[in-house]
Amino acid sequence: MKTIAVLTSGGDAPGMNAAVRAVVRTACENDMKVYGVIRGYNGLINGDFIEMNLRTVSDIINRGGTILYSARSVEFATEEGMRKAIRTCQEWGIEGVVVIGGDGSFRGARDLSERGIPCVGVPGTIDNDIACCNYTIGYDTCLNTIMEMVDRLRDTSESHDRCTVVEVMGRKAGYLALNAGIACGATSILVPEVEFDVQKHIIERMEKTQRTGKKHFIIVAAEGVRLDVDDLAKEIQAKTGVESRSLILGHVQRGGSPTVKDRVMATRMGNYAVKLLMDNIGNRVVAAQKEEIVDYDIFEALNMTKGIDLELYNVAHEVSI
Ligand code: F6P
Repeated sequence: MKTIAVLTSGGDAPGMNAAVRAVVRTACENDMKVYGVIRGYNGLINGDFIEMNLRTVSDIINRGGTILYSARSVEFATEEGMRKAIRTCQEWGIEGVVVIGGDGSFRGARDLSERGIPCVGVPGTIDNDIACCNYTIGYDTCLNTIMEMVDRLRDTSESHDRCTVVEVMGRKAGYLALNAGIACGATSILVPEVEFDVQKHIIERMEKTQRTGKKHFIIVAAEGVRLDVDDLAKEIQAKTGVESRSLILGHVQRGGSPTVKDRVMATRMGNYAVKLLMDNIGNRVVAAQKEEIVDYDIFEALNMTKGIDLELYNVAHEVSI
């Protein structure tokens, strides 16, 4: 391939810029022309492209968000939108596309690949919910952001002998909640993958720790459990007598400068993706499996499932008391 494009799609994630930088620099160093696509698949439909070079990606490795902007394209989900995107790629001579995003973005990459534009997916989402990977770009930074925020909440929670219920992101998955909950010493962690009962998993645990002298509490709930955290805080206060507050952390979790892990992994994955396209290999997802970077057929990757680490969940249950 001589000409490729790179786009970021879906929810932005810290480290996406580091991945874009790696894609652009690897392509340039291998004498390929590379276009940056603006606002995900919408840009691919409309030909909203910037020709990238070594310097257009300077000073972005440390930046959160994505310099290419991101979108969840409604038009691209239609057959007509997809045809338009293919026509645009053909007009611009684009032979392959690196798609940085989550599984929604990979479905688009699969459909484009099937219609003759080879794509390689690079997992970028704070949720860590892509089944073929045990890590996604942005996850580590997000965990650290949550930890920092909850540490601050703990300060004030402790000063007032309160219980604070914190809702964290993660879409339908509990990876963020489980790992952040452990790192923050949460008394209870609620994840969509494990059934829970407020009385047993929160009230009784709080009462047990109260008997050992504990006076302040952090409860971490994944957004996927679909609970109203304010109602939950009121219920906790009514049942335990502990003054309670709630907070939905929200989009603050998606911003910020990427951690070392996110920068390094994004760099490795971006580089790997371009190497696949250089060998005319498309319809693949780049994945991190332990310390290794590997790749999967997109179709296969989208049909894989992964559960939460129940052993880790049990460790949290045993220790955070
Ligand atoms: O997938 C990333 C994510 O931040 C999820 O954790 C969350 O459910 C969703 O995106 C929020 O999307 P939006 O930015 O469209 O509100």
